[in-house]
Amino acid sequence: MSGFHKDGKFCKQVFPIAGSTENQLSKSPILGGQPNRNFPSSIGGGAQVTQFRTFSRKEVRQFCDYDPSRDFDRCLREHQNVEPSVWTREQAEQIRITPDNVTNVINEPFPRISADLWIWDMWPLTTRDGSIAVLPGGWRVLFALSAPRSVLPGQRHDVARIAYWYSRDGLDWIQGGEVFPPGTALGSRQWAGSTMLDNDGTVYFFYTATGRRGETETTFEQRIALASSDVFSDLNGVLFDNFSAHQIILEPDGVLYQTQEQSSGGIIYAFRDPFFFKDPATGCEYLLFEGNVGGTADEIDCGPGVPPEANQFSGNIGIALLQNDNFTEWELLPALLEATCLNQQTERPHIVVRDGLYYLFTDSHEFTFAPGLEPGPGPDGLYGFVADALRGDYIPLNDGGLVITNPPQEPFQAYSWLVLPDFTVLSFIDNFNLQGIPIQQVGTLPAEFQFAHFGGTLAPTIQLAVDGATTQIVNELQFGLMTVSQTESPKCDLECPVIEGGASDGKAFDKLDKIFKVYKNLFDLK
Ligand code: FRU
Repeated sequence: MSGFHKDGKFCKQVFPIAGSTENQLSKSPILGGQPNRNFPSSIGGGAQVTQFRTFSRKEVRQFCDYDPSRDFDRCLREHQNVEPSVWTREQAEQIRITPDNVTNVINEPFPRISADLWIWDMWPLTTRDGSIAVLPGGWRVLFALSAPRSVLPGQRHDVARIAYWYSRDGLDWIQGGEVFPPGTALGSRQWAGSTMLDNDGTVYFFYTATGRRGETETTFEQRIALASSDVFSDLNGVLFDNFSAHQIILEPDGVLYQTQEQSSGGIIYAFRDPFFFKDPATGCEYLLFEGNVGGTADEIDCGPGVPPEANQFSGNIGIALLQNDNFTEWELLPALLEATCLNQQTERPHIVVRDGLYYLFTDSHEFTFAPGLEPGPGPDGLYGFVADALRGDYIPLNDGGLVITNPPQEPFQAYSWLVLPDFTVLSFIDNFNLQGIPIQQVGTLPAEFQFAHFGGTLAPTIQLAVDGATTQIVNELQFGLMTVSQTESPKCDLECPVIEGGASDGKAFDKLDKIFKVYKNLFDLK
């Protein structure tokens, strides 16, 4: 246990966040030397101005001394008698493609991360607080879903395996291979997840077990699974070994979250994409995931003026609270957000906290929006919402929620955006250079065409600027650049400086801090 809050009557931690990208980014020339439309030249290279965040003694203590089983009731309280925030059809009808959310066209030549694998749905190895981990030897690690490049791109989901890469500069990635020893992972294939390096060096892999191992026909059951391992790293590279047995840790309950049996065909249901999250304000630990509202479609009435078939669209962003030390027991909580009658898939949900505001992101496709929206469905894109607490009232960013999308002439060129703590964003190159061919047709075209128009590698990293409830793409960086960034959370190995002339006791200090935060959030949201 850290001893910094034993001394002195109060503790105020002040430390830089998100400034750690400055050197890396200013060294990275903008892709192809293209001037960026939006980027204010004074900030140059995508570097973020260093920000500071303070935490009260109580917040630091709660965060750093958190014990999942002892603090379970405290953590649960925040989630009792709550209703999910709602992403409404009215809000989604405000989605517009603007210079602030659209990316540049991607075309060949671009570097490929692997000679033999397609990759998509990537995520970094993070520390327990969500910062990007740097292992002995200086390595950052990236995980992704993968499939042999001999597989037709449209069929890759049926054979997906988790593979990993490591890099010292976040640009040149060395392929480490499949993560799990053959035949050990659950599911007939593995879908997206997240990976966390605990303080004692154990690595926890949260992933989606889709179908059942050994099944003869491909099924779409989804369960959330866990395996842990040791990690070995030195100047030569990175290796995961000594794996635990894999186990299922979460399944839908049919009340808060839809089961496979309750789903009605059409676009498949979801119970997938676990994202580990430690709330900086409380220390409580969660898995976020993509789900659907519990129950069947005919229990949903979308109301007057809405096509009745819109009731087939019930995506939500689920959340479960950790209950024990080894990450095996979780309690399903009411969803954070739901998109009933609006969207069937809110994929790969994740949170970034900045200035005490909770930015909740999810990926979604045009084809998963419900019918009857004016002026039309939202595009394939990264969508986001902001609230002033984990359980706050989430409002869509930029009115409709759209944060990043592809250029209208190539609407399917990238997908699966993942926002890192410094608001740089990873994604992968999907169906590029289609030149107007509708996405539904791609699968009917000759295999050579399908192979030639699928990227299956990392897209240019995007840099976002955020200001309250608005966001802006301010730069496009190199293909697949992963910066080292830290989350805005108490750092448990920092000393607690005694602040001269500050509040005279911890309680008063906590109170002042709270009032300050409330005001700050109010102003930021205006
Ligand atoms: C998003 C996604 C994820 C899922 C994976 C399957 O691209 O649909 O939700 O885990 O792809 O390949």
